[in-house]
Amino acid sequence: MQIGVIGAGAMARALGGRWAAAGHEIYFGARRTEAADELAAGVGYGARGGSIEEAARFGEVVLLAVPVDGLDAVLRATPEFAGRVLVDCTNAFEPDTAAPDGAAGFVLAEDAVAERIAATVPSAQVVKAFNLCAAEVWADDAREFEGSPLSVPLCGDDPDAVRVVAGLAEDLKLRPFLAGGLHRARYLEAASVLTVGLWFAGYDSRAMLPPLSAAFATRDQQ
Ligand SMILES: NC(=O)c1ccc[n+]([C@@H]2O[C@H](COP(=O)([O-])OP(=O)(O)OC[C@H]3O[C@@H](n4cnc5c(N)ncnc54)[C@H](OP(=O)(O)O)[C@@H]3O)[C@@H](O)[C@H]2O)c1
Repeated sequence: MQIGVIGAGAMARALGGRWAAAGHEIYFGARRTEAADELAAGVGYGARGGSIEEAARFGEVVLLAVPVDGLDAVLRATPEFAGRVLVDCTNAFEPDTAAPDGAAGFVLAEDAVAERIAATVPSAQVVKAFNLCAAEVWADDAREFEGSPLSVPLCGDDPDAVRVVAGLAEDLKLRPFLAGGLHRARYLEAASVLTVGLWFAGYDSRAMLPPLSAAFATRDQQ
């Protein structure tokens, strides 16, 4: 599949690099085209680098891997995003200046980034994914913990777009699952700010939830 990757930083390298290794055609696009070229050369597998417009035009699927405060300018200046499947991995973290001592954390600068992306490019199909873990996690080869592949929740409204992004997660030996429509992407964004803040404070966010078999989360019988 042809994938455009916008940005030439940690997430672009992690996901774009692994998709390239998995056999996809990758075009990195950045505002400094030399950074995109350099990244493409480092990744190999025939990956190319160039402008944001070129990457957006190239990709059937386009990963947005830029800071949230840069999104609006990028989206508005790039008509090539129209009609694309846009994968939104962004997080609008900012420091929690009200955090008590010992509870390092972040808050969200914005509540619903994925929905804003969809409103800015209404013809695109936005899928929220890959925002819960650090770039280093995605960059690694297969990620398995306690015998199971790492799961990737996806939120999106278009079933075909969600299916495509699920396939891209599977190509990285991850386990995708549908977490709901795009209106629920804000919960993935909120989940991320909570869990990442806890990790930064030294708590094991993974340990605060029981496995499904012990979750007692069953539907009420009618
Ligand atoms: N890193 C993680 O572990 C992680 C995990 C989950 C989600 N995320 C999210 O993924 C996104 C990318 O994070 P990252 O860690 O890859 O960031 P990064 O390493 O700082 O790279 C950001 C990239 O975006 C470009 N950029 C910055 N501002 C821009 C603007 N206004 N217009 C166009 N391009 C711009 C940068 O270009 P320049 O070099 O020219 O500045 C750089 O290529 C963020 O939204 C972040 O919240 C990151």
